[in-house]
Amino acid sequence: MIYLDHAATTALDKEIFETMKPYFSEKYGNPSSIYFLGQEAKAAIEEARERVAKILGASPGEIIFTSCATESNNLAIRGIINYQLAISKKPVHIITSSIEHKSVLETCKGLEEKGAEATYLSVDKEGFVNIEDLKKAIKENTVLVSIMYANNEVGSIQPIKEIGAYLKDLNKRRKQPVAFHTDAVQGFQYAETDVQSLGVDALSLTGHKFYAPKGVGILYLKEGIKVESQQTGGSQENKKRAGTENVPYIVAIAEAMATASSKRQVAGGQIRKLRDKLIDGILEKIPGTILTGPAKENFANRLPNNASFCFPKVEGESILINLDFEGIAASSGSACTSGSLEPSHVLIAMGYDHTIAHGSIRFTLGKDNTEEEIDEVLEKLPPIIEKLQKMSPLR
Ligand SMILES: Cc1ncc(COP(=O)(O)O)c(C=O)c1O
Repeated sequence: MIYLDHAATTALDKEIFETMKPYFSEKYGNPSSIYFLGQEAKAAIEEARERVAKILGASPGEIIFTSCATESNNLAIRGIINYQLAISKKPVHIITSSIEHKSVLETCKGLEEKGAEATYLSVDKEGFVNIEDLKKAIKENTVLVSIMYANNEVGSIQPIKEIGAYLKDLNKRRKQPVAFHTDAVQGFQYAETDVQSLGVDALSLTGHKFYAPKGVGILYLKEGIKVESQQTGGSQENKKRAGTENVPYIVAIAEAMATASSKRQVAGGQIRKLRDKLIDGILEKIPGTILTGPAKENFANRLPNNASFCFPKVEGESILINLDFEGIAASSGSACTSGSLEPSHVLIAMGYDHTIAHGSIRFTLGKDNTEEEIDEVLEKLPPIIEKLQKMSPLR
């Protein structure tokens, strides 16, 4: 199997698995218990919190362990907006982009139904938010800006540092400060995530995108930023996330972050070389292919593991099935909604029409991919596209 869908998930790293194992059956105490077994588990969580905080340039009290980035995004956005709605009693305004993950978009839409106002910034053809548009969208009642660090489908890295610096300066002159959240799920492995230099107040992560298990996430929440807790119950996670902590997974995400951040440059460089070979090969061998996301001149702002395309006159799903027969795993941006296939909301927001967007495929590389695998994809993909284009009614 050639696995080229690392933006969807990654395999649990064997060494990371070893670090979490003792917390299943030997050191299994409940961190809230006062006897040794419980305190041992609590100590493991606090050590993990300190490690994560150090990696993100935060303090330990600003790290909340969650179950995934969907939960982190919900806690940040719904939490901040609901808190503000409750104290201001007036509609509060949130700004986000039209290419966010559904866990952000659907949360914002839900909040609109509860009386919040939302602006969804458009993006350019390469998938970048324009900071001038953001500046114009800020209103007196804006309380939150949520812009993803890097897009999961087309790999565009957003100008988070610039936005952070702008908002910091703006907040000096505002009565109502604007909090800044970023969904850094896809950015963490390859781009700087020091929260101080990014200038963010909240940042979401999920472990399974960087070789930790599925089912654990992180929300960095700057001290002083108020959120309404999304669960009621115990006082875990500084009263911001009730529920017994998932100790082995928390240990694992801290270990995975330490590994990923220490190898960021090297891993990014190696992956980038293979990714470029894949992009160049596909563009050369398959006429008419559209590279989606940042263009070559802007590859510095494209995730180094992302190669995404549209193949005219074919359906992304047909390509996926044919690739799967050949033992190659990739992804298309379409979503199955009420039994029909909707083209990727990201590509539509970038200005592609529905027929082009339906032919989208995303390859995302990981640390274990090899040059031989890329060669094999370059050999197997062109005849698949040729066959499907010949069969296409759009031909
Ligand atoms: C950009 C982005 N945000 C959020 C998520 C949600 O992560 P999880 O499914 O772990 O909650 C994903 C997952 O694909 C993602 O790519």
